[in-house]
Amino acid sequence: MYLNPKNIAFYLFEKGLLSWEESLAGVQHYLEAGSRSFGFKVEMVCGKNFFIKQIKNNFDGMSRLLEMEALVLQAENFTEKPTFFLHDKKNGILVNSLVDNAQNLGEFIKNEGFLLPIATQLGLVLSKFHQVEFKENHFQNSSQRQPPLVFYLGTAAGRNFLKQKRERFTTQLIEQIALYPSLLEAIAEAHKNWEAKTLIHGDMKFENCLIQKMEDSYKMQLIDFEEVTMGDALWDVAGIVQAAISVQLQKTHFLIFSPFSPFHPLLDDAIFCDWLQTFWKNYELQHEAEIKLIQFTGLRLIGRLMEIAQQADVSHQAKEWLPLAQEMIENPEKYLKLLTT
Ligand SMILES: Nc1ncnc2c1ncn2[C@@H]1O[C@H](COP(=O)(O)OP(=O)(O)O)[C@@H](O)[C@H]1O
Ligand SMILES: [Mg+2]
Repeated sequence: MYLNPKNIAFYLFEKGLLSWEESLAGVQHYLEAGSRSFGFKVEMVCGKNFFIKQIKNNFDGMSRLLEMEALVLQAENFTEKPTFFLHDKKNGILVNSLVDNAQNLGEFIKNEGFLLPIATQLGLVLSKFHQVEFKENHFQNSSQRQPPLVFYLGTAAGRNFLKQKRERFTTQLIEQIALYPSLLEAIAEAHKNWEAKTLIHGDMKFENCLIQKMEDSYKMQLIDFEEVTMGDALWDVAGIVQAAISVQLQKTHFLIFSPFSPFHPLLDDAIFCDWLQTFWKNYELQHEAEIKLIQFTGLRLIGRLMEIAQQADVSHQAKEWLPLAQEMIENPEKYLKLLTT
């Protein structure tokens, strides 16, 4: 059974989320929004709104992802998230509240730029998420405790494992990365700092943060908990720092950057540095973790390239990104200005 604009009102009635009258009045607006799993926004004539995910191929791996998301959405001690309504395991459906007039942070920053109140909110909400005591045993069996794929680049065996997927662009990227032997060693070294102590979001990026503009403030919520896992909290933090850097890199092509010039032009943008510093100051869970955070950010830049390489040739982009990632991983001290004054 697959949901569509025609059967959805009846489905929500059957599950007790709408009265008979409300379901008869029908759907006012329906908008597909998801990527991996099939997400859509549903606004009913009666004014009740939902965000629904239904996985396209209900095979095991995918249903596990939705199950993870349902577990976090039901956690009572973390409130900066949509309201959970139901998880229908049989049909691979998850229903939660539609956050009204929300934009994801990716859209928001594209339109508004790097506003400081957003950095503050984001730091506070992410640190709150990492301090929540989730019942770990909920997640233990089902969540894989593998470190992120990018760490596999650190060893020859890991690189072969990644190449086994036989994705043309991935293989091409790995070969391009292998042109930086000291980077491979630095990745292996950074892997030793990976600590799986916290329940982390696992897919932290701007698109998975929702922002609502209130009268004179902003409200931030986290979404898309499909990849929660026991991991290193700084990995989530690095996801945000990397997302911000990627926005900057795409905006201006920093072609003038060479690994031989002392500083990356990123560091010259005061508004941008202020934004990251504000985010980090408000997160403030781990003091003196800046060096590791910058290294993780470099790793996430490479991880992002690996993600894009699943669909497209990234060799050109890699030429710009890899020297920066390498610098961040091998000489993180140079980039402290991104995080602290
Ligand atoms: N509860 C919600 N309310 C409003 N918009 C949402 C909600 N959940 C997700 N979205 C929007 O839909 C997009 C995709 O949803 P997400 O849960 O991240 O699915 P995917 O796994 O496909 O990334 C988000 O980036 C966000 O813009
Ligand atoms: Mg998402």
